[in-house]
Amino acid sequence: EGTLGGAAAQSGRYFGAAIASGRLGDGAYTSIAGREFNSVTPENEMKPDATEPQQGRFSFAAGDRVYNWAVQNGKQVRGHTLAWHSQQPGWMQNLGGGALRQAMVNHINGVMAHYKGKLVQWDVVNEAFADGSSGARRDSNLQRTGNDWIEVAFRTARAADPGAKLCYNDYNIENWTWAKTQAVYSMVKDFKQRGVPIDCVGFQSHFNNDSPYDGNFRTTLRSFAALGVDVAVTELDVQGAPATTYANVANDCLSVPRCLGITVWGVRDTDSWRSEQSPLLFDGNGNKKPAYTSVLGAL
Ligand code: XIL
Repeated sequence: EGTLGGAAAQSGRYFGAAIASGRLGDGAYTSIAGREFNSVTPENEMKPDATEPQQGRFSFAAGDRVYNWAVQNGKQVRGHTLAWHSQQPGWMQNLGGGALRQAMVNHINGVMAHYKGKLVQWDVVNEAFADGSSGARRDSNLQRTGNDWIEVAFRTARAADPGAKLCYNDYNIENWTWAKTQAVYSMVKDFKQRGVPIDCVGFQSHFNNDSPYDGNFRTTLRSFAALGVDVAVTELDVQGAPATTYANVANDCLSVPRCLGITVWGVRDTDSWRSEQSPLLFDGNGNKKPAYTSVLGAL
């Protein structure tokens, strides 16, 4: 028997899930989530469009609902996310240059002040690199404010809440041979060399037929950890939820002392942003799938 969170805790790690505030009234959902996980990431509630819907007017109601549910049920919380090209409020989408840069800084300060001392990690910057073979930054309004926007975000975040681990988070950086992985690795190496405050790298791990799991994921985790940052699997889901892949990811994390834990991106398949892929550990009826058993066994 046992639970995912309990098994992960045996090695000092956590096993978390993305939690949606709108589902907290669903007893089947909260009973599984309350039992199995010891870490929570708000799926959408701490993103810029949720927390600063109008410029300078912060809104923490939904984020607080998820945070309070987590704490009342004994779970730690990862903040997600402060600076991102996506899910920006409309007013931010329309900004650029110095006004956007200042708005980003104000946003980080406003949100981190509200949650100061409460969150174990923050995804400070999300998805800043381009897909494909370029190894370049992703074009976005934030990137167009200047290449230093990421380090400004991290320096701002460190000053705002010195107690939170500050993470860079991205997808398609799990495979060590991919250009995007190497580009993020180079940035983290540079940040560590220059003293830019970064504590962790989050590997989203949305595995599917286009971006499949590869056995070199543990090489990636180990290589980043060797730079002096923690690593975490932050948004795990796998098309078809093959039991072997889930066990492999768990074993990869366990093989790296600086791997803090694993978060799956939802509870039941029907809760998933990619529900058509049935990528999670519980089916729509809340039954444990083979991947659940295999990942629990690996922990
Ligand atoms: C997704 C949520 O799951 C959806 O509900 C929302 O509509 C879009 O965002 N990478 C991330 C997450 O960092 O924030 C995304 O979450 C999934 C991809």
